[in-house]
Amino acid sequence: MFLQTKDLVKSFGDKVVVDHVNLEVKEGEVFGLLGPNGAGKTTTISMICGLLKPDGGDILFEGKSAVKDSMFLKRVMGVVPQDIALYPMLTANENLYFWGRMYGLSGRELDQRVKEVLDIMGLSDRAKERIDKYSGGMKRRINIAAALMHRPRLLIMDEPTVGIDPQSRNHILESVKQFNQQGMTIIYTSHYMEEVEYLCHRVAIMDYGKVIALGTKDELKAMVGDADKVIMETGLIFDDIKQRLSAFDYVENIMVTDNTVDILVHDAKTHLPDLISAVIGAGGDIASIKVEEPNLEGVFLHLTGRQLRD
Ligand SMILES: Nc1ncnc2c1ncn2[C@@H]1O[C@H](COP(=O)(O)OP(=O)(O)O)[C@@H](O)[C@H]1O
Ligand SMILES: [Mg+2]
Repeated sequence: MFLQTKDLVKSFGDKVVVDHVNLEVKEGEVFGLLGPNGAGKTTTISMICGLLKPDGGDILFEGKSAVKDSMFLKRVMGVVPQDIALYPMLTANENLYFWGRMYGLSGRELDQRVKEVLDIMGLSDRAKERIDKYSGGMKRRINIAAALMHRPRLLIMDEPTVGIDPQSRNHILESVKQFNQQGMTIIYTSHYMEEVEYLCHRVAIMDYGKVIALGTKDELKAMVGDADKVIMETGLIFDDIKQRLSAFDYVENIMVTDNTVDILVHDAKTHLPDLISAVIGAGGDIASIKVEEPNLEGVFLHLTGRQLRD
Protein backbone atom coordinates (compact mmCIF):
# COMPACT_ATOMS: atom_id res chain seq x y z
CA MET A 1 0.00 0.00 0.00
CA PHE A 2 1.18 3.51 -0.89
CA LEU A 3 -0.03 5.31 2.23
CA GLN A 4 -1.87 3.79 5.12
CA THR A 5 -3.07 4.95 8.51
CA LYS A 6 -3.68 2.29 11.10
CA ASP A 7 -5.96 3.00 14.05
CA LEU A 8 -4.80 6.60 14.15
CA VAL A 9 -5.89 8.35 17.36
CA LYS A 10 -5.58 11.94 18.55
CA SER A 11 -7.19 13.70 21.49
CA PHE A 12 -7.17 17.32 22.60
CA GLY A 13 -7.77 17.33 26.35
CA ASP A 14 -10.35 14.65 26.96
CA LYS A 15 -11.91 15.06 23.51
CA VAL A 16 -11.08 12.33 21.01
CA VAL A 17 -10.81 14.20 17.74
CA VAL A 18 -9.41 11.41 15.54
CA ASP A 19 -10.82 8.09 16.60
CA HIS A 20 -9.11 4.96 15.21
CA VAL A 21 -8.92 6.17 11.64
CA ASN A 22 -7.92 3.58 9.05
CA LEU A 23 -7.22 4.89 5.56
CA GLU A 24 -5.58 3.23 2.58
CA VAL A 25 -4.47 5.48 -0.24
CA LYS A 26 -3.41 3.74 -3.46
CA GLU A 27 -0.66 5.09 -5.67
CA GLY A 28 -2.05 7.11 -8.59
CA GLU A 29 -5.47 7.87 -7.16
CA VAL A 30 -7.20 11.01 -5.98
CA PHE A 31 -8.37 10.12 -2.50
CA GLY A 32 -11.08 12.27 -0.96
CA LEU A 33 -11.45 13.01 2.72
CA LEU A 34 -14.96 14.40 3.06
CA GLY A 35 -16.65 15.58 6.23
CA PRO A 36 -18.31 18.56 7.89
CA ASN A 37 -16.32 21.21 9.76
CA GLY A 38 -14.87 19.74 12.94
CA ALA A 39 -14.92 16.14 11.65
CA GLY A 40 -11.16 15.75 12.25
CA LYS A 41 -9.89 16.04 8.67
CA THR A 42 -7.17 18.63 9.34
CA THR A 43 -6.02 16.82 12.46
CA THR A 44 -5.70 13.58 10.47
CA ILE A 45 -3.79 15.36 7.70
CA SER A 46 -1.51 17.09 10.21
CA MET A 47 -0.48 13.73 11.62
CA ILE A 48 0.22 12.34 8.15
CA CYS A 49 2.36 15.41 7.42
CA GLY A 50 4.32 14.96 10.63
CA LEU A 51 3.11 18.25 12.14
CA LEU A 52 1.20 16.55 14.94
CA LYS A 53 2.18 13.43 16.85
CA PRO A 54 -0.52 10.75 17.05
CA ASP A 55 -1.56 9.49 20.51
CA GLY A 56 -1.93 6.04 19.00
CA GLY A 57 -1.76 4.09 15.78
CA ASP A 58 0.63 4.25 12.90
CA ILE A 59 1.20 5.88 9.51
CA LEU A 60 2.83 3.71 6.88
CA PHE A 61 4.28 4.99 3.63
CA GLU A 62 5.20 2.15 1.31
CA GLY A 63 5.20 -0.07 4.36
CA LYS A 64 7.53 2.08 6.47
CA SER A 65 6.35 3.85 9.61
CA ALA A 66 6.40 7.64 9.38
CA VAL A 67 5.48 8.25 13.02
CA LYS A 68 8.96 7.98 14.52
CA ASP A 69 10.76 9.49 11.55
CA SER A 70 8.83 11.35 8.88
CA MET A 71 11.79 12.79 6.95
CA PHE A 72 11.56 10.27 4.11
CA LEU A 73 7.85 10.99 3.71
CA LYS A 74 8.37 14.77 3.80
CA ARG A 75 10.78 14.51 0.88
CA VAL A 76 8.19 12.96 -1.44
CA MET A 77 5.14 14.81 -0.14
CA GLY A 78 3.80 18.29 -0.88
CA VAL A 79 1.34 19.88 1.52
CA VAL A 80 -1.18 22.63 0.84
CA PRO A 81 -2.36 23.62 4.32
CA GLN A 82 -5.82 24.96 5.10
CA ASP A 83 -4.27 28.22 6.29
CA ILE A 84 -2.11 30.07 3.79
CA ALA A 85 1.59 29.62 4.57
CA LEU A 86 3.27 32.49 2.70
CA TYR A 87 5.19 35.62 3.60
CA PRO A 88 2.82 38.52 2.84
CA MET A 89 5.59 41.12 2.48
CA LEU A 90 7.47 39.08 -0.12
CA THR A 91 6.56 38.71 -3.78
CA ALA A 92 5.22 35.45 -5.18
CA ASN A 93 8.63 34.83 -6.76
CA GLU A 94 10.46 35.38 -3.48
CA ASN A 95 8.09 33.07 -1.62
CA LEU A 96 8.64 30.32 -4.17
CA TYR A 97 12.43 30.76 -4.02
CA PHE A 98 12.18 30.45 -0.25
CA TRP A 99 10.21 27.19 -0.42
CA GLY A 100 12.42 25.83 -3.19
CA ARG A 101 15.54 26.36 -1.06
CA MET A 102 13.79 24.71 1.89
CA TYR A 103 13.39 21.65 -0.32
CA GLY A 104 17.07 21.76 -1.26
CA LEU A 105 16.80 23.24 -4.74
CA SER A 106 19.34 25.79 -5.97
CA GLY A 107 20.86 27.44 -9.02
CA ARG A 108 19.34 26.94 -12.44
CA GLU A 109 17.17 24.06 -11.28
CA LEU A 110 15.54 26.41 -8.76
CA ASP A 111 15.08 29.22 -11.32
CA GLN A 112 13.57 26.77 -13.74
CA ARG A 113 11.21 25.23 -11.21
CA VAL A 114 9.90 28.61 -9.97
CA LYS A 115 9.01 29.48 -13.56
CA GLU A 116 7.34 26.12 -14.10
CA VAL A 117 5.13 26.16 -11.01
CA LEU A 118 4.08 29.78 -11.68
CA ASP A 119 3.08 28.71 -15.17
CA ILE A 120 1.21 25.64 -13.94
CA MET A 121 -0.83 27.76 -11.52
CA GLY A 122 -1.44 30.49 -14.11
CA LEU A 123 0.31 33.32 -12.24
CA SER A 124 3.49 33.96 -14.27
CA ASP A 125 2.46 37.54 -15.08
CA ARG A 126 1.85 38.39 -11.39
CA ALA A 127 5.05 36.85 -10.02
CA LYS A 128 6.68 40.15 -9.07
CA GLU A 129 3.76 41.38 -6.95
CA ARG A 130 3.72 41.15 -3.19
CA ILE A 131 1.53 38.42 -1.73
CA ASP A 132 -0.41 40.92 0.40
CA LYS A 133 -1.65 42.48 -2.86
CA TYR A 134 -3.01 39.12 -4.03
CA SER A 135 -6.65 38.01 -3.88
CA GLY A 136 -7.52 35.03 -1.69
CA GLY A 137 -7.71 32.77 -4.72
CA MET A 138 -4.29 33.85 -6.01
CA LYS A 139 -2.75 33.25 -2.59
CA ARG A 140 -4.16 29.73 -2.64
CA ARG A 141 -2.69 29.12 -6.07
CA ILE A 142 0.75 30.29 -4.94
CA ASN A 143 0.38 28.08 -1.88
CA ILE A 144 -0.18 25.15 -4.22
CA ALA A 145 2.74 26.25 -6.41
CA ALA A 146 4.97 26.21 -3.31
CA ALA A 147 3.91 22.66 -2.49
CA LEU A 148 4.83 21.57 -6.04
CA MET A 149 8.39 22.95 -5.99
CA HIS A 150 10.11 19.61 -5.25
CA ARG A 151 7.88 17.55 -7.62
CA PRO A 152 6.14 15.57 -4.88
CA ARG A 153 4.76 12.09 -5.59
CA LEU A 154 2.01 12.69 -3.04
CA LEU A 155 0.14 15.99 -2.76
CA ILE A 156 -2.04 16.63 0.27
CA MET A 157 -4.55 19.46 -0.09
CA ASP A 158 -6.61 20.67 2.86
CA GLU A 159 -9.78 22.51 1.78
CA PRO A 160 -7.96 24.34 -1.02
CA THR A 161 -11.04 26.10 -2.40
CA VAL A 162 -12.64 27.56 0.72
CA GLY A 163 -13.51 31.25 0.40
CA ILE A 164 -12.09 31.95 -3.05
CA ASP A 165 -13.41 33.27 -6.36
CA PRO A 166 -14.93 30.83 -8.91
CA GLN A 167 -12.13 31.40 -11.43
CA SER A 168 -9.39 30.37 -8.99
CA ARG A 169 -11.56 27.51 -7.81
CA ASN A 170 -11.94 26.15 -11.34
CA HIS A 171 -8.25 26.56 -11.98
CA ILE A 172 -7.45 24.58 -8.83
CA LEU A 173 -9.91 21.77 -9.63
CA GLU A 174 -8.60 21.41 -13.18
CA SER A 175 -5.00 21.49 -11.92
CA VAL A 176 -5.73 18.63 -9.52
CA LYS A 177 -7.09 16.58 -12.42
CA GLN A 178 -3.97 17.33 -14.45
CA PHE A 179 -1.51 16.51 -11.65
CA ASN A 180 -3.25 13.20 -11.21
CA GLN A 181 -3.18 12.44 -14.95
CA GLN A 182 0.57 13.03 -14.80
CA GLY A 183 0.83 10.34 -12.12
CA MET A 184 0.65 12.25 -8.85
CA THR A 185 -1.25 10.72 -5.96
CA ILE A 186 -3.50 13.25 -4.22
CA ILE A 187 -5.32 13.40 -0.91
CA TYR A 188 -8.06 15.99 -1.28
CA THR A 189 -9.77 17.19 1.87
CA SER A 190 -13.03 19.09 1.63
CA HIS A 191 -16.48 19.62 3.06
CA TYR A 192 -17.77 20.30 -0.46
CA MET A 193 -19.49 17.16 -1.67
CA GLU A 194 -19.50 18.30 -5.32
CA GLU A 195 -15.72 18.79 -5.45
CA VAL A 196 -14.96 15.44 -3.91
CA GLU A 197 -17.48 13.81 -6.22
CA TYR A 198 -15.92 15.51 -9.24
CA LEU A 199 -12.28 14.77 -8.41
CA CYS A 200 -11.91 11.68 -6.31
CA HIS A 201 -11.65 8.02 -7.25
CA ARG A 202 -12.23 6.88 -3.69
CA VAL A 203 -13.65 8.73 -0.72
CA ALA A 204 -13.53 8.39 3.04
CA ILE A 205 -16.39 10.14 4.80
CA MET A 206 -15.45 11.39 8.28
CA ASP A 207 -17.74 12.50 11.08
CA TYR A 208 -16.89 13.15 14.74
CA GLY A 209 -13.38 11.76 14.30
CA LYS A 210 -14.45 8.49 12.74
CA VAL A 211 -14.42 7.18 9.19
CA ILE A 212 -18.06 6.28 8.71
CA ALA A 213 -17.75 5.09 5.11
CA LEU A 214 -14.98 4.40 2.62
CA GLY A 215 -15.14 3.34 -0.99
CA THR A 216 -15.54 4.42 -4.58
CA LYS A 217 -18.31 6.91 -5.30
CA ASP A 218 -20.43 4.13 -6.75
CA GLU A 219 -19.87 1.89 -3.74
CA LEU A 220 -20.87 4.70 -1.40
CA LYS A 221 -23.95 5.59 -3.42
CA ALA A 222 -25.01 1.95 -3.46
CA MET A 223 -25.32 2.28 0.33
CA VAL A 224 -28.34 4.53 -0.14
CA GLY A 225 -29.82 2.40 -2.93
CA ASP A 226 -29.59 3.34 -6.57
CA ALA A 227 -32.90 5.15 -6.86
CA ASP A 228 -33.15 8.64 -8.36
CA LYS A 229 -35.50 11.21 -6.94
CA VAL A 230 -37.96 13.04 -9.17
CA ILE A 231 -39.44 16.15 -7.59
CA MET A 232 -42.55 17.53 -9.29
CA GLU A 233 -44.49 20.63 -8.40
CA THR A 234 -47.96 19.57 -9.44
CA GLY A 235 -50.40 22.04 -7.97
CA LEU A 236 -53.03 20.29 -5.89
CA ILE A 237 -52.20 16.64 -5.27
CA PHE A 238 -55.06 14.30 -5.94
CA ASP A 239 -55.20 10.76 -4.62
CA ASP A 240 -55.34 9.75 -8.22
CA ILE A 241 -51.78 10.97 -8.82
CA LYS A 242 -50.43 8.79 -6.05
CA GLN A 243 -52.42 5.82 -7.24
CA ARG A 244 -51.34 6.07 -10.86
CA LEU A 245 -47.66 6.53 -9.93
CA SER A 246 -47.61 3.60 -7.55
CA ALA A 247 -48.81 1.33 -10.36
CA PHE A 248 -45.35 1.51 -11.98
CA ASP A 249 -43.08 -1.25 -10.72
CA TYR A 250 -39.97 0.96 -11.06
CA VAL A 251 -41.42 3.51 -8.63
CA GLU A 252 -40.05 2.70 -5.22
CA ASN A 253 -41.67 5.34 -3.05
CA ILE A 254 -43.90 8.40 -3.29
CA MET A 255 -43.86 11.25 -0.80
CA VAL A 256 -46.44 14.01 -1.01
CA THR A 257 -46.13 17.42 0.61
CA ASP A 258 -48.46 20.37 -0.09
CA ASN A 259 -48.14 20.81 -3.83
CA THR A 260 -45.06 18.74 -4.59
CA VAL A 261 -44.62 15.04 -5.05
CA ASP A 262 -41.24 13.33 -4.52
CA ILE A 263 -40.95 10.09 -6.44
CA LEU A 264 -38.14 7.60 -5.81
CA VAL A 265 -37.56 5.94 -9.17
CA HIS A 266 -35.11 3.49 -10.65
CA ASP A 267 -33.59 4.99 -13.79
CA ALA A 268 -35.55 8.25 -13.74
CA LYS A 269 -34.28 9.38 -17.13
CA THR A 270 -35.88 6.44 -18.95
CA HIS A 271 -39.18 6.64 -17.12
CA LEU A 272 -39.67 10.38 -16.88
CA PRO A 273 -42.11 10.65 -19.85
CA ASP A 274 -44.36 7.97 -18.33
CA LEU A 275 -44.32 9.67 -14.94
CA ILE A 276 -45.26 13.00 -16.51
CA SER A 277 -48.09 11.43 -18.51
CA ALA A 278 -49.46 9.74 -15.42
CA VAL A 279 -49.46 12.96 -13.40
CA ILE A 280 -51.10 14.98 -16.18
CA GLY A 281 -53.58 12.15 -16.81
CA ALA A 282 -54.62 12.37 -13.17
CA GLY A 283 -55.27 16.09 -13.44
CA GLY A 284 -51.93 17.32 -12.09
CA ASP A 285 -50.72 20.74 -13.21
CA ILE A 286 -46.94 20.39 -13.45
CA ALA A 287 -45.09 23.66 -12.72
CA SER A 288 -41.57 22.23 -12.43
CA ILE A 289 -39.64 18.97 -12.51
CA LYS A 290 -36.28 18.21 -10.96
CA VAL A 291 -34.33 14.95 -11.10
CA GLU A 292 -31.76 14.26 -8.39
CA GLU A 293 -29.35 11.36 -8.75
CA PRO A 294 -27.89 9.83 -5.59
CA ASN A 295 -24.87 11.80 -4.35
CA LEU A 296 -22.45 11.84 -1.44
CA GLU A 297 -24.64 14.34 0.40
CA GLY A 298 -27.35 11.66 0.34
CA VAL A 299 -24.88 9.09 1.66
CA PHE A 300 -23.95 11.37 4.56
CA LEU A 301 -27.60 12.05 5.33
CA HIS A 302 -28.33 8.33 5.19
CA LEU A 303 -25.51 7.51 7.61
CA THR A 304 -25.86 10.37 10.09
CA GLY A 305 -29.35 11.80 9.67
CA ARG A 306 -27.71 15.20 9.20
CA GLN A 307 -26.79 17.44 6.28
CA LEU A 308 -23.14 17.69 5.30
CA ARG A 309 -23.36 21.45 4.92
CA ASP A 310 -23.18 23.73 7.95
N1 LIG B 1 -5.12 22.43 18.64
C1 LIG B 1 -6.36 22.09 19.02
N2 LIG B 1 -6.74 22.15 20.32
C2 LIG B 1 -7.96 21.78 20.71
N3 LIG B 1 -8.93 21.34 19.88
C3 LIG B 1 -8.62 21.25 18.57
C4 LIG B 1 -7.33 21.62 18.08
N4 LIG B 1 -7.32 21.42 16.74
C5 LIG B 1 -8.56 20.95 16.42
N5 LIG B 1 -9.34 20.85 17.52
C6 LIG B 1 -10.72 20.35 17.54
O1 LIG B 1 -10.72 19.09 16.93
C7 LIG B 1 -11.88 18.88 16.16
C8 LIG B 1 -11.49 18.51 14.74
O2 LIG B 1 -10.87 19.62 14.14
P1 LIG B 1 -10.28 19.57 12.68
O3 LIG B 1 -9.36 18.41 12.57
O4 LIG B 1 -9.73 20.90 12.39
O5 LIG B 1 -11.60 19.29 11.82
P2 LIG B 1 -11.88 19.56 10.27
O6 LIG B 1 -10.59 19.83 9.58
O7 LIG B 1 -12.57 18.32 9.79
O8 LIG B 1 -12.81 20.75 10.20
C9 LIG B 1 -12.68 20.15 16.26
O9 LIG B 1 -13.68 19.97 17.25
C10 LIG B 1 -11.67 21.17 16.69
O10 LIG B 1 -12.27 22.19 17.44
MG1 LIG C 1 -10.01 21.42 8.47
